[in-house]
Amino acid sequence: MFSLVVVVCLQLLLQQFMESAVAQPFPNYHTDFVDIKQHKNVPKWWQTGAFYQIYPRSFKDSNGDGVGDLNGIADSLPYLKELGITATWLSPIFSSPMADFGYDIANFTEIAPIFGSMADFEHLMKVAKELDVKIILDFVPNHSSDECDWFKRSAAGEPDYKDFYVWHPGRMVNGTRHPPSNWVSVFRGSAWQWHEGRQEYYLHQFLKKQPDLNYRNPKVRETMKNVLRFWLAKGVAGFRIDAVPSVFEIAPDAAGQYRDEPRNDWVNDPDDYGYLQHIYTVDQPETLAMVYDWRAVLDEFTDGDERILLAETYSPIDIVMQYYGNATAEGAQLPFNFLLITEISNTSNANDYARTIQKWLQHMPQGRTANWVLGNHDQWRVASRLGADRVDMLNMLITTLPGASVTYQGEELGMTNVWISWKDTVDPSACNTNASVYEHFSRDPERTPFQWSSDANAGFSNASKTWLPIAEDYKQINEDEERQKPVSHLNIYKHMLTLKREVQTLQLGETEVKALNSAVLGVKRFLQHDFIYVTVLNIFDDIETINLKESFTDLTEQMKVVMVSTNSKLKVGDLINATALELLPKESLLLRTLPTFYTYYTNGEARQLPVLVIYLVLAQVLLYLSYHRAL
Ligand code: GLC
Repeated sequence: MFSLVVVVCLQLLLQQFMESAVAQPFPNYHTDFVDIKQHKNVPKWWQTGAFYQIYPRSFKDSNGDGVGDLNGIADSLPYLKELGITATWLSPIFSSPMADFGYDIANFTEIAPIFGSMADFEHLMKVAKELDVKIILDFVPNHSSDECDWFKRSAAGEPDYKDFYVWHPGRMVNGTRHPPSNWVSVFRGSAWQWHEGRQEYYLHQFLKKQPDLNYRNPKVRETMKNVLRFWLAKGVAGFRIDAVPSVFEIAPDAAGQYRDEPRNDWVNDPDDYGYLQHIYTVDQPETLAMVYDWRAVLDEFTDGDERILLAETYSPIDIVMQYYGNATAEGAQLPFNFLLITEISNTSNANDYARTIQKWLQHMPQGRTANWVLGNHDQWRVASRLGADRVDMLNMLITTLPGASVTYQGEELGMTNVWISWKDTVDPSACNTNASVYEHFSRDPERTPFQWSSDANAGFSNASKTWLPIAEDYKQINEDEERQKPVSHLNIYKHMLTLKREVQTLQLGETEVKALNSAVLGVKRFLQHDFIYVTVLNIFDDIETINLKESFTDLTEQMKVVMVSTNSKLKVGDLINATALELLPKESLLLRTLPTFYTYYTNGEARQLPVLVIYLVLAQVLLYLSYHRAL
């Protein structure tokens, strides 16, 4: 009897020990797929994915018209495969008068001839499937083009389409007609446009060639869901949802009027979007519910891999988080995390970086997946925004942080903004301003053609003129050139993605982000029974000496260099001293602990083997005693 009690007690003790050994000290941002007890720690395809945005006009021109196209993308997919890209999202490729370069769609289920045909799209899908690079399309739900058939029918008052858009007769003040409200368009000026034919105003939160669809009309909601179904049936892996917050606006009041939005007093120009607080035109509760409904449409497609939504929103963090879903409904798997764009500048220090990264991680609801976006076709190139000499550190950062990384085409090469004269400017966001201020609004500088080689037009096109000029530095910064150099932005990016795919700790590990001093940021990734990885970035221009062991527990005295930035003197495989690591200006390193046989974890603290040994010896003695009592 006594022996039985002892054995049971021992078992209970051991079990408790084992459980505490696997308990994790920091929140696990992958709780929905990490289940250590069931050994079910395989992430879903998108959870640690490397996403890559293609801006089709500027990626690769296959037919020599100076504009990129679908066949150009299909021909270049092996490059994405070689980089290690999981999925690529394409800015809109649909029929469009191109007033906003495709974000003004005339037919949501047709390919724009400038990009190719439906057969070209199907060919692209076939190549993508063979290479296992997933294709994600841009879904632009808020508006269509004014050249869309739906709009023409709506303007003509056809019963089925009459309420497809947001129409209003306007406000009469002293016998004069005024727009229905003071709402301002993102691209300047009133968001209301008078339509002569219909004798009413229509709402356009973007260009007047982009009338807002009326989401209060169930037929619109169903039509747009069918757009999703159309492309899902063609095998796309999901959608990036454009301008999500704008989808619904407040409903008119009982008198049929729209309320004015309050002013922001720090902007004086009434045509500027910043003039108003957009409390009635963005992030309405119905918009969140709509995103959850779109997710349900994706979930109808149960064949093959999970389909996903990436949501474009620059809203306050608490709202962004709601786009993930709530207790009862799933939303976008990845609402874009734009914090590295909106909160980090070229003067930000390590504390700013740490705070910004933690902001996302701390706000993110349990079980959701993080993502890190450095750029897109609406933002200055990261090399111009944060520094050409910080390209490696930023790429190393987004690929060592937990979750998915999102790269805009060319940022793996360190492409920079290209200055475009007022005469050559084509972006409507800039063309709506004037020659003296357009540069603050233009998105052309980040949209110039991809630099493939040092050939004419950077190997992008054999046209005599490309739709936007080619960067002057293309002979130095191009894919071909960087491929030849073992340590180039491109090769560092590529190796980082390989590591991210192959290293369990980078995929599933816990994360600790710290400013090691005001210039050096450290990111520690760790996983039970595995090596610890630490990325260190020296953000500024002084040489910094740091003691990594002071900031992070459980590191080994020496650590192995796994990846170096282009400006480092170290080589992959070198050993460094973790208590006195010298970092050159803007240098970044990925380091790994050396193997030890005595470190184990319990409740997140490192313990040395002797404790375990004592524990085991004690257990042996008790077993021995109980055995003898039993005899
Ligand atoms: C999104 C797109 C941007 C476009 C706008 C209107 O913000 O990223 O390029 O101009 O929506 O569709």
